[in-house]
Amino acid sequence: MAKAGTPFIILFILLYITIGSGQKCIRQERIALARFRQIITDESGRLLSWTGQECCSWQGITCSNKTGHVLKINLHNPMPFDYDKFYNSFDSDYAANYSKSCLSGEISPALLDLKQLQYLDLSMNNFSMIEIPEFFGSFKNLRYLNLSVARFQGNIPSQIGKLSSLEFLDMSDFWTNSLSADSLHWLSRLSSLKHVDLSGVHLGQAKDWLDSINGLPFLTKLNLSNTLVRSIPPLLRPNFASLVSLDLQSNIINSDIPQWLFNISNLVELRLDGNGFGGSVPQNMARLSSLTVLGLSSNFFNSSVPESLFNLRNLTYLDLSQNRFQGTIPKAIVNLCSLRFLDLSDSGFTGEIPAFGGCHQDLDTLRLSYNSFHGPIPESFGILSSLRELDISNNVLTGSIPSSSGQLSNLETLDVSNNSLSGVVSESHFAKLTKLTDLSMFLNDLVFNFSSQWIPPFQLQSIKLTSCTLGPKSPTWLQTQRDVEELRISGTGISDRLPDWFSKLYSSVHYLDISKNNISGELPQFEEAINRPYRRLIMHSNSFHGPFRPIPSDVLLFDISNNSVSGNLNIPVQNGKILTLEVLIVSNNQLNGSIPSILCKIKTMTILDLANNQFSGEVPGCIGQMETLAMLDLTNNTLHGEIPSSFSSLTLSSLHLENNKFQGRLPSMENMTYLRILNVGKNSFTGVIPPWIGQMQNLAFLNLQSNEFHGEETTSPDKSLLALEILPP
Ligand SMILES: *[C@@H]1O[C@H](CO)[C@@H](O)[C@H](O)[C@H]1NC(C)=O
Ligand SMILES: *[C@@H]1O[C@H](CO)[C@@H](O)[C@H](O)[C@H]1NC(C)=O
Ligand SMILES: *[C@@H]1O[C@H](CO)[C@@H](O)[C@H](O)[C@H]1NC(C)=O
Ligand SMILES: *[C@@H]1O[C@H](CO)[C@@H](O)[C@H](O)[C@H]1NC(C)=O
Ligand SMILES: *[C@@H]1O[C@H](CO)[C@@H](O)[C@H](O)[C@H]1NC(C)=O
Ligand SMILES: *[C@@H]1O[C@H](CO)[C@@H](O)[C@H](O)[C@H]1NC(C)=O
Ligand SMILES: *[C@@H]1O[C@H](CO)[C@@H](O)[C@H](O)[C@H]1NC(C)=O
Ligand SMILES: *[C@@H]1O[C@H](CO)[C@@H](O)[C@H](O)[C@H]1NC(C)=O
Ligand SMILES: *[C@@H]1O[C@H](CO)[C@@H](O)[C@H](O)[C@H]1NC(C)=O
Ligand SMILES: *[C@@H]1O[C@H](CO)[C@@H](O)[C@H](O)[C@H]1NC(C)=O
Ligand SMILES: *[C@@H]1O[C@H](CO)[C@@H](O)[C@H](O)[C@H]1NC(C)=O
Ligand SMILES: *[C@@H]1O[C@H](CO)[C@@H](O)[C@H](O)[C@H]1NC(C)=O
Repeated sequence: MAKAGTPFIILFILLYITIGSGQKCIRQERIALARFRQIITDESGRLLSWTGQECCSWQGITCSNKTGHVLKINLHNPMPFDYDKFYNSFDSDYAANYSKSCLSGEISPALLDLKQLQYLDLSMNNFSMIEIPEFFGSFKNLRYLNLSVARFQGNIPSQIGKLSSLEFLDMSDFWTNSLSADSLHWLSRLSSLKHVDLSGVHLGQAKDWLDSINGLPFLTKLNLSNTLVRSIPPLLRPNFASLVSLDLQSNIINSDIPQWLFNISNLVELRLDGNGFGGSVPQNMARLSSLTVLGLSSNFFNSSVPESLFNLRNLTYLDLSQNRFQGTIPKAIVNLCSLRFLDLSDSGFTGEIPAFGGCHQDLDTLRLSYNSFHGPIPESFGILSSLRELDISNNVLTGSIPSSSGQLSNLETLDVSNNSLSGVVSESHFAKLTKLTDLSMFLNDLVFNFSSQWIPPFQLQSIKLTSCTLGPKSPTWLQTQRDVEELRISGTGISDRLPDWFSKLYSSVHYLDISKNNISGELPQFEEAINRPYRRLIMHSNSFHGPFRPIPSDVLLFDISNNSVSGNLNIPVQNGKILTLEVLIVSNNQLNGSIPSILCKIKTMTILDLANNQFSGEVPGCIGQMETLAMLDLTNNTLHGEIPSSFSSLTLSSLHLENNKFQGRLPSMENMTYLRILNVGKNSFTGVIPPWIGQMQNLAFLNLQSNEFHGEETTSPDKSLLALEILPP
């Protein structure tokens, strides 16, 4: 008997949930949503849950518990938009997934039946085919409207100005400027607004932008970055009493910073970066005593920094980078004890680096690069226990690196490159640097002295130590690093055999520069890397010998010049993959055999340098297929035969055939209008001196010497032309 009761209990529970939750979809509103769905494009099926009667439980819909009216539509794309992955890098997989996850198409005015709608979020979708519908202005109860990166086009309809309950308005699309407004007058009517983000909207014509915003009584946050605003118009009665955050970054404003700005005593965040502000930073800035974030980077400030700026004791973020300040940075800057982020790079500062330390327990980013700071690195840096990034590169710092650096246990990036630092770098400098991933010390006079047993506490991704002293023995600590992407140790005094572990650990490195050492043994073996395009492998000026090794198909630049590598230029077709090499430099080795015709298939090649080897045979007939080739150097080999006629279709700027055994006539180069250097001396070319040579407008160097050319039969041979060198100025 007990069992028979179960279905009734379940039914009762179901009944309780439906009634008890209080959500009961209103029929008319369900129909409105269904109509909306009918004409929207939803490739990834985000609205699949939109079936059945209970529209209040549909994905993205929220109803009132009391009345059942739809209050919220939240259809923002759950997949975040990554501009870099979408436009700059190669993640076609991501781009396809993202595009698919976007809602797109038309928006049905049936939505107007949602009379109580308070919240509408369509952000991160793709409505790039339509404008913002005018009927959006008729949602009388709307408090929140988010069309951020929803990719609507065209003018913002002034009907939005009827949304008198609106508190949050977000139409930002930082990248495109595809929305625009010729006037913001409609905005002045939205007196409930608290938060306005129009970043990326084209406001270049909206001369009334400031007047329209002035006086909105509750406005706390205003973002007008990248809106093509040119100036800050004069204001009769500035009134921004409630403003807390103002962002005018990345515009083209070159008027002065207006004085009324310094009267907004509630301002906590002020971003004026990337404009045309110049002269001096106003003293009055110091009146904004609540500021925690101040961005003045990438402007034209060109006088000294006012000391009073550093009375803003609550600053956590200060960016003064990329300006042309005069003189030293006031010592008072060390009084900013709350700083987390400080960027003074590329700003023209001189003098010594201020002694941060002491109270800067929260400082996590310190960038001082590209100035003229001189003197030593302050010892006190060692107490910056939160520091994750320290960049003091490209200054004229002297002295040694204080070993207190070894205490920076949160450090991820350390860049002291291109200074005049000297002295010994030892294990103690890295004692607690367990999180270090990027180490850059190149262009200094530093000597690395580690025990051969040293096991560093870090796993680095990027190692840049060019021109420091690491040798003469191979640095054994490199054997402990398992996933290095970038290794630059050119000219570091290593005079040793390439260790056996090298090929195992560094075979898929993205950027390798071990040039200008005295490394011996055979060339390392490389493998295809995963997701590391544009690979560069630079090994010139060492003592490598033994055979040439196949180049992985994802390498862009390969340079083994000035070694003693021998045998054939071994370029196999690997798994049917054609190499994507752009630069191949193997000059000054002992390579022999013929030039493989498979080179013609590398459609990306721009520089091919085979000089000073023992290559023999003829130039492959297919050479004309290397459409992007700009520089070809075959000097000092024993190549012979005629230059193939396909050669005429190349567009070289530099051609070196000197000291081979080439014969026959020079192929026509009449169409190589960019040719600057033509060197075919010491061969056995015959025929008349080609008339097209006289028309090469860009030619700066010409050598036809020691061939068997003769002049036109009708005229006497012009001997002087045979040895003409037009040297570059
Ligand atoms: C409506 O009721 C649900 C479930 O009882 C609750 O989670 C939700 O917060 C309520 N919503 C409102 C707007 O009161
Ligand atoms: C794209 O979607 C497919 C299938 O849903 C998934 O396997 C893959 O990991 C996604 N790729 C990215 C980059 O998001
Ligand atoms: C948005 O849709 C347009 C037109 O269909 C398309 O060209 C564009 O690539 C899409 N953008 C994104 C980010 O998916
Ligand atoms: C609008 O949506 C975007 C992305 O979904 C979000 O990052 C942003 O904070 C929202 N804007 C407001 C004002 O809530
Ligand atoms: C203003 O918007 C831009 C782009 O949408 C964003 O990067 C920036 O962080 C915003 N500013 C503030 C202060 O939130
Ligand atoms: C700033 O405020 C002071 C007094 O509060 C007032 O006298 C002055 O006119 C204001 N300056 C501007 C430019 O609004
Ligand atoms: C600073 O820039 C202004 C123009 O913005 C210019 O008139 C002035 O001469 C410059 N001063 C210095 C010291 O370079
Ligand atoms: C600075 O920050 C402290 C702590 O958050 C706060 O008590 C103080 O009021 C702030 N000062 C100003 C001028 O806003
Ligand atoms: C090194 O710094 C100087 C300025 O101090 C700069 O001119 C030079 O270009 C830098 N060198 C490199 C290789 O970055
Ligand atoms: C390198 O370290 C060893 C042992 O720690 C020491 O004996 C030697 O003097 C150091 N060499 C230099 C150049 O500092
Ligand atoms: C070719 O060999 C000559 C003589 O050995 C040498 O002077 C010249 O530098 C070499 N040319 C190139 C491009 O290496
Ligand atoms: C140079 O270009 C012209 C016009 O495209 C073409 O007719 C001619 O054959 C070309 N000359 C050579 C030697 O390829």
